[in-house]
Parts: sequence; structure tokens; C-alpha cells
Amino acid sequence: MKVNAKYASRLAVAPMMDWTDRHCRYVHRLLSRDTLLYTEMVTAPALVRGGAVHLLAFDASEHPVALQLGGSDPEELAEAARMGAAAGYDEINLNVGCPSDRVQSGAFGAVLMKDPALVARCVQAMQAAVEVEVTVKCRIGVDDQDPEVILPDFLSRMSDAGVGRVTVHARKAWLQGLSPKQNRDVPPLDYPLVLRMKERFPHLHVSINGGIASLAEARGFLDAGLDGVMIGRAAYHAPADILCAADRLIHGSGPDSDPVAAARAMVPYVDAHVAEGGTLAQVTRHMLGLFAGRPGARRWRRILSEGAHRAGAGSALMLEALEAVTSATAEAAAAAE
Ligand SMILES: Cc1cc2nc3c(=O)[nH]c(=O)nc-3n(C[C@H](O)[C@H](O)[C@H](O)COP(=O)(O)O)c2cc1C
Repeated sequence: MKVNAKYASRLAVAPMMDWTDRHCRYVHRLLSRDTLLYTEMVTAPALVRGGAVHLLAFDASEHPVALQLGGSDPEELAEAARMGAAAGYDEINLNVGCPSDRVQSGAFGAVLMKDPALVARCVQAMQAAVEVEVTVKCRIGVDDQDPEVILPDFLSRMSDAGVGRVTVHARKAWLQGLSPKQNRDVPPLDYPLVLRMKERFPHLHVSINGGIASLAEARGFLDAGLDGVMIGRAAYHAPADILCAADRLIHGSGPDSDPVAAARAMVPYVDAHVAEGGTLAQVTRHMLGLFAGRPGARRWRRILSEGAHRAGAGSALMLEALEAVTSATAEAAAAAE
């Protein structure tokens, strides 16, 4: 089935290094059928020069799923995009927002906000290499750039280069003096600027990102005229809050999902992963927040964080933790009567 990533991008879970790996995406997909999922950033040099094709592996159930690439060499990015498209990704996204040192040294990520002509060459080379849509995730600016000036310039160059869909993390990145983590919190958010960009470039599909913590907020941005909303940390830390009602409330497509059913559905996945030599913790570390804010959340988290890394741990431990959740839910319901 050909999946429409553009349609799915009304709500997306952000690319997050070390977090949105394939195990995480598998869990998220059980919670929402139609939300767009992104890989962690994969660098073009790792794929093209390092031959790290294992980084492209994903499960067929993850569709619609986008590959995020980092890089600044048009030819290398084109080759990496080709590899991603051949692996079956529904979209190839270029990272123009990540401020980490390692990434800066290779001239990838947010530093590219200073060189929109190079970004345009990169996306054109990528588009020429693949049929799937090439998209861009950017900031509103970096360092002492004036977002009011450079963001419209950046977006019009992207549009001229043939990019039809962008996600804007609505804050600057400060490339000196802030850690990557601080760069996700310290520079102030400017949502109105992103809304104005949608008015100025009505033909461009604009998604907003940064600090959005609920589906109601996401809905508000869509109602205000934006085309999509991307949620990162909130979706990771409390996936059920963001994803269980997303198909109904955002995509208008399906019933709510249930985190208990999702946890049960992870049993065969976990069994297969452990049988191949993987550990339970590699999967369940992405599930620790599954019951955040619900009865039994603490017991679930404790059982898994204490036991999932131990030798021999498997789906039985996950079911034991789930039992703690279902009994806490029953206790809470009884107490409420
Ligand atoms: C642990 C972590 C890793 C991240 N890795 C990436 C990445 O690989 N590529 C990227 O474009 N952004 C990355 N980001 C930034 C997120 O995609 C997102 O833009 C940012 O967290 C703001 O959204 P939020 O407030 O909804 O979390 C990362 C964020 C976190 C928390």
C-alpha cells in the first residue's frame, strides 16, 4: 500500500536521536495508525561512506515513516536519499535544525540555516535522486540572525527549490554556549512567526514544532491554519496521551487505541527480539512512559527499569508489569465507586 506521508503529517512524532529508534516507532505505531513517524537522524556519510545500511532497517508496520538525513554534501545526500527510498521510506527529511557539536563540525543541522543556497542545492540533488517527497526540518534562525528576515528568505528558497513541506522548530538554535538540550528549551518559542509564514507561503505545507504538549494544543494549531504539528518530547514521555486519540481527533480516521492492548501486542515483538539476542530493555526503555499519569504507572516503570536489563528478562517480565497496571486500574476504579 502506498502511504501518504503528507496526509499523515497533520501529526508527526519528531525525529529524536537515541529515542525514535525502530523499537520506539513500533510501539508508537501500535498507538496511532496514521501519525507520521520519523527515524533518528542518520548521517549521509554514515550511510554512503560508512556503509551503515543497518541504520535503515525498519518494520513494515511502521509506515508511514520518514527517514531523516543529516549532511551538507549534495551528492552524498542524494546517494543517502536513494538508499533510504530503496529501503522503503515514505519521505526523506533533511535536518536543518540540530545544534549538536558533532553535527556542527560536519556542517550539518542548524548551522545550515546560514547557507540556504547550499540547502537548496542539497534538496534539489535529493529530489532528483528519489520519487518520495523530500522535506526539510529547520529552526527559525541561528545565533544573531533575525528570524523575521531570514526565515521567509529560507522558506522561499526552499519553495523555489521544489520543497513542498517543511517543519519549523519555532525557536532559534544558539550554536555557541548552549548544549543541545538547552537549545531545546532556552531560546524562546515564537509560534506567531510560524503562523505568519503559513500566511505568507500558503502553498507550502507548514508544520510547527517545539514545546507542544497535548493533542488539544496540536488541534489548536491546525485550526489556526497550520498544516501539521510535530511533537517530540511529550510524545516520547507520555505516548498514550499524545497518540491514543490522535487517529480520531487529528486524522479523523479511527477509534482510540488502548495502551494496555498495545503493551500486550508487544509480546511477540519482544519475544522475537530477545530470541535474536536482543535485550528486553532495548525495547521497554521506550515504553516506560506508556502509562504516564495513569494508575499503576509507577509500578510499571519500576518493574521494567529494575528488571528489563537483567539476563534472561523477556516478555514475562513485561506481562508482570502490565498485571501491576491492570490491578492498579481496577483498584482505582473500585475506590472511585
Ligand atoms: C533526545 C532528543 C533527540 C533529538 N534528536 C533530533 C534529531 O535527530 N533530529 C532532529 O531534527 N531533531 C532532533 N531533536 C529535536 C526534536 O526533533 C524537536 O525538534 C525538539 O525536541 C522540539 O520539539 P518538542 O518540544 O516537541 O520536543 C531531538 C530532541 C530530543 C529531545
